[in-house]
Amino acid sequence: MEQSLNGKVVVVTGALGALGRGVVPALAARGAQVAVVDRAPAQALEGAALVSGDVDLASPEAAQRVLADVASRLGGIDAVVNLAGGFRWETVEAGDIATWDLLYGLNLKTALVTTKAALPHLLARAATQGGGRIVNVGAAAAARAGLGMGAYAASKAGVARLTESLAEELKDRGITVNAVLPSILDTPANRADMPDADFTRWVQPAQLAAVIAFLIGAEAQAVTGALIPVTGRV
Ligand SMILES: NC(=O)c1ccc[n+]([C@@H]2O[C@H](COP(=O)([O-])OP(=O)(O)OC[C@H]3O[C@@H](n4cnc5c(N)ncnc54)[C@H](OP(=O)(O)O)[C@@H]3O)[C@@H](O)[C@H]2O)c1
Repeated sequence: MEQSLNGKVVVVTGALGALGRGVVPALAARGAQVAVVDRAPAQALEGAALVSGDVDLASPEAAQRVLADVASRLGGIDAVVNLAGGFRWETVEAGDIATWDLLYGLNLKTALVTTKAALPHLLARAATQGGGRIVNVGAAAAARAGLGMGAYAASKAGVARLTESLAEELKDRGITVNAVLPSILDTPANRADMPDADFTRWVQPAQLAAVIAFLIGAEAQAVTGALIPVTGRV
């Protein structure tokens, strides 16, 4: 495969989850040095140069510490991919108000906190080598919430708005900010939740990884503030 990300240091958050297992090897295969940061305990992951576990990325102090560590061990940071997140389905009537805070924390706050902690490193690299990148994972479902999807869609809509405003903020500073918006990923959890679905219609993690790799690569230099649906045949 073409080494389109040769030597780039890419931090991928939440990469010990289902999507990360597809994204990390795909970025490494394109030549990236991938640092994984997750709240889950550290474990070996194919393609990862570094794995930092037990890190809560809702904490600014924890995020600053781990990103400084990655930058010093791998020589800087070129890109951040914010995969950390989560999902709950519940109606307003039967659901818990705390779920709205929970999903805000999981999906929007982790992206915001990680990005803010990464910015000094990305700006330092962009100034000398050009081409800093931030890629967020939103959700196609955030455009219009379905039944039981209010809290999730609101939190992912927040990710979309963060992406847009940060893209404007950084567009003269050499850093692009984009989001991919998956529909349903083919993951073990989704297969267990929807056993009768046609899994071939869903998005494969490797397919989403290819779009993320494009956004990190040099050919996407002119793309910023984009919200890109990656919806397979859903
Ligand atoms: N699966 C889908 O169909 C789908 C569709 C659209 C969008 N997405 C988005 O794609 C991303 C990845 O999804 P996935 O299916 O791979 O989810 P996943 O399997 O649940 O993995 C998410 C990972 O993020 C970690 N994480 C959560 N909160 C964190 C925090 N505060 N600090 C650090 N790490 C944290 C989780 O750790 P814990 O296990 O400890 O919580 C987990 O390892 C998410 O943003 C999700 O919303 C997924």
